[in-house]
Amino acid sequence: MANQEENLFKNVIAHAKEYGFVFQSSEIYDGLSAVYDYGQNGAELKNNIKEYWWKFMTMLHENIVGIDAAIFMHPTTWKASGHVDAFNDPMIDNKDSKKRYRADQLIEGYIEKLEEKIEKEVEKAAKRFENFDRSMFVSTNARVVEYQKKIDEVNDKLKEAMGSGNMEAMKQLIIDLEIADPVSGSRNWTDVRQFNLMFSTEMGSVADDANKIYLRPETAQGIFVNFLNVQKTGRMKIPFGIAQIGKAFRNEIVARQFIFRMREFEQMEMQFFVKPGEEMKWYEHWKEKRIKWHKALGLGEENYRFHDHLNLAHYANAACDIQFDFPMGFRELEGIHSRTDFDLKSHEKYSGKKLQYFDPETNQNYIPYVVETSIGLDRMFLAVLSSSYKEEKLADGSERVVLRIPAPLAPNKVAILPLTKKDGLPEKAQEIMNSLKFHVRCFYEEKDAIGKRYRRQDAVGTPYCVTVDHQTLQDNTVTIRHRDSMEQERVPVDSLKATLTAACSVNNILERI
Ligand code: GAP
Repeated sequence: MANQEENLFKNVIAHAKEYGFVFQSSEIYDGLSAVYDYGQNGAELKNNIKEYWWKFMTMLHENIVGIDAAIFMHPTTWKASGHVDAFNDPMIDNKDSKKRYRADQLIEGYIEKLEEKIEKEVEKAAKRFENFDRSMFVSTNARVVEYQKKIDEVNDKLKEAMGSGNMEAMKQLIIDLEIADPVSGSRNWTDVRQFNLMFSTEMGSVADDANKIYLRPETAQGIFVNFLNVQKTGRMKIPFGIAQIGKAFRNEIVARQFIFRMREFEQMEMQFFVKPGEEMKWYEHWKEKRIKWHKALGLGEENYRFHDHLNLAHYANAACDIQFDFPMGFRELEGIHSRTDFDLKSHEKYSGKKLQYFDPETNQNYIPYVVETSIGLDRMFLAVLSSSYKEEKLADGSERVVLRIPAPLAPNKVAILPLTKKDGLPEKAQEIMNSLKFHVRCFYEEKDAIGKRYRRQDAVGTPYCVTVDHQTLQDNTVTIRHRDSMEQERVPVDSLKATLTAACSVNNILERI
């Protein structure tokens, strides 16, 4: 990360703590690594993101329904899903710095550096030549061709080592590429070992192996095991989807980037069941739908890009990420996977129960194929928070920190601020608040000068401030101050409910998709 981005990220993290968005878990005991709590404003923002996703999935699509499955599942679930045998990350330690890394990420970092070199060459050439043709340039420029050859070679070796679980090959690749510890610069590495990411615990009072159960590492399996329950009781016809929001747990090897990679996190997943052979059509369909959902929020279209997976997971025949430009650069925000019939077929095998769909149109039974959309709620939270965080210099020379959170996601929609604490202004302000609080989340405050109060609301992203002054008592009008433009206008109290409800509803954004 460049210095400027690193500073920005630090400021976002500090701001999140100072304004009640995110706290380190069990902070009074010095915290628990990669586990975080959401504070009073964070919990509201998180709930609003959930509402935006849940409504999009289950209200705008009549063939998608939502469920809420348990975190604990029968242990055979994880044998069937492949997680017991294959949900491993290759880990490596540096003997000098004592830091632990994911071996594949070290190699991917090497590839990323080569890709950056290519981009620099392209940028330089684009400035030099008129009518610059990128594809012609990258296929003919000797230096770029050489970099690309190296990228392909390393990618192939990484894929081969990951696919076959050959940890010696992975270590050899790190040695051959002379990859150094990013912290100490040392090349003194341990062997690469496989590390299973699932947390386990015991159920019941007898702690033997038979009672070992896992904390789910993804919410998807709760959907698969309920596939027939939902299909039958909901009389669902293929194609149809099942959506779920819930906690997932992974014992991540490297978890250093705030809420980007946590050990306890939340996922919003949807499994879409389709006729075999139609999965690629639906895969493209969901790619398009999901990117629209993201872009409709208005965080900046340039902040998103697709990234196709080179190393497909054991269950997928196509997969890509929607990446977001986080403070540390473009990283995975959401995964879209064509999961074939792997999961249902495997659960059929392990449970001995049929998990098939009877298609009334063809009079045939079949195991549906699945297209999955899977987004991390905490990553979405970080995307909203980091892209909304702005340090602004104002025309009068002063500065402000403002969270330009889309109004429907903002923790509080309106702050009701009596200008002074006397002359009946607090009573009038309370009366206004009482008329609004059933419709939009309100915040009330009477302490400090009005300018200071505006700044505090900017810092938590409140899109509107309503100021109650002496004129309010005479003509029942208030000043409404807009967070982003800082403009103020005088409006009748009676208009507030309709204006604020319309501006702050997630339906507003959903209508644009
Ligand atoms: N059911 C498929 C699945 O779980 P994944 O790519 O492993 O796929 C999906 O995870 C999404 O969950 C990711 O795109 C990311 O947003 C989020 N996610 C995964 N691991 C995470 C972690 N340790 N901390 C926070 N979010 C995570």
